[in-house]
Amino acid sequence: MVRQASGTAMSALLPPIGMLAELTHRCPLQCPYCSNPVELLKANRELDTAAWLDLFEQAADLGVLQVHLSGGEPTLRRDLEQMIARLSARGVYTNLITAGVGIAEGRIEAFAEAGLDHLQLSFQGARPETTDRIGNQRGAHERKLETARRAVAAGLPLTINAPVHRHNIEQVPEFIELALSLGAERLEIANVQYGGWALINRQALMPDREAVMRQAEIVEAAAKRLAGILNIDFVTPDYFAIYPKPCMGGWARDAFMVAPDGTVLPCHAAHTIPTLTFERFGERTLADIWEDSPAFNAFRGTDWMQEPCRSCERREIDWGGCRCQAMAIAGNAAATDPACIKSPLHARMATAVAEAQAAAAAHDRNAEFVYRRIGGAVQAEPEKA
Ligand code: SF4
Ligand code: FES
Repeated sequence: MVRQASGTAMSALLPPIGMLAELTHRCPLQCPYCSNPVELLKANRELDTAAWLDLFEQAADLGVLQVHLSGGEPTLRRDLEQMIARLSARGVYTNLITAGVGIAEGRIEAFAEAGLDHLQLSFQGARPETTDRIGNQRGAHERKLETARRAVAAGLPLTINAPVHRHNIEQVPEFIELALSLGAERLEIANVQYGGWALINRQALMPDREAVMRQAEIVEAAAKRLAGILNIDFVTPDYFAIYPKPCMGGWARDAFMVAPDGTVLPCHAAHTIPTLTFERFGERTLADIWEDSPAFNAFRGTDWMQEPCRSCERREIDWGGCRCQAMAIAGNAAATDPACIKSPLHARMATAVAEAQAAAAAHDRNAEFVYRRIGGAVQAEPEKA
């Protein structure tokens, strides 16, 4: 018995529902907002096919109902069809999260035949020049359009994912039109979360408050207007919020992730918490890690909480927000997420926004990205005025 039904750390634990499998860190794109760790793993560190298949079997045994196949770019794994087929055979819902460039002829159809349930395709911009610049690949936008058409033709339900930041926030109405034109069922307007590479690029990516407010109004109106036609999900921007999101639905509560080398983590930025040690699949079973890993138990439930979370009426709504954001901004993973208005450090979020605005004004919007890259960072060319 795992997952806690309510507050205490170890009582009435329930099984996990979801798993994010980061199959590889390799990716043909180099988005500066990437949530992957800054220290990316090379191909020779990835689990092999047999290990992933064993892991998926154990996940299904443990009770996992949904697996999100992600990366990096998961389609770079030549064994992806095998993985989908194995999960499908176990009745696990599969969602492929792809950047949608360079997928060989016939493969999307093969994924569908293997039993893929859903495809989520990211667009860095609603305009070709934006997609190509943010992803740092010429022609990427056109390739993504082609991937969307092939997915729909193969009968796969399609979600368009739009990671939103300063350089594309004004394109939200165009993202909506794009999703409609591609026959998507769902559009995710996801304000960038500042972890991993996105934290390095925070100044270059942070939008201003007026743009965030305009965007929220546009999304709200569109969601009403398009009800029954297009589902629009809105991932709110923490830096402009008064309460944090329940990151991962609460630490080790109903989901976890696996890095390309088999390291099992409560969330994608957990490795940034230096006091925690994470275990690898193969050294222990998945069930052992989920139930007994000290890192998983460190912030489970509410017993670990400090004030103001400890006595807050929202403590089982947002579970104290994001541990990794608390680490990054407060320097203490057990602190209240500074995104929360009750955090004594909440003003640091506004300061970060103000600093980003000042930097943007000084650069006349020509903020420079540090592009994601295995083995080191690359500074972008300034945007042409
Ligand atoms: Fe959530 Fe803690 Fe803020 Fe309460 S004090 S709203 S539990 S983050
Ligand atoms: Fe780690 Fe939010 S990213 S808890």
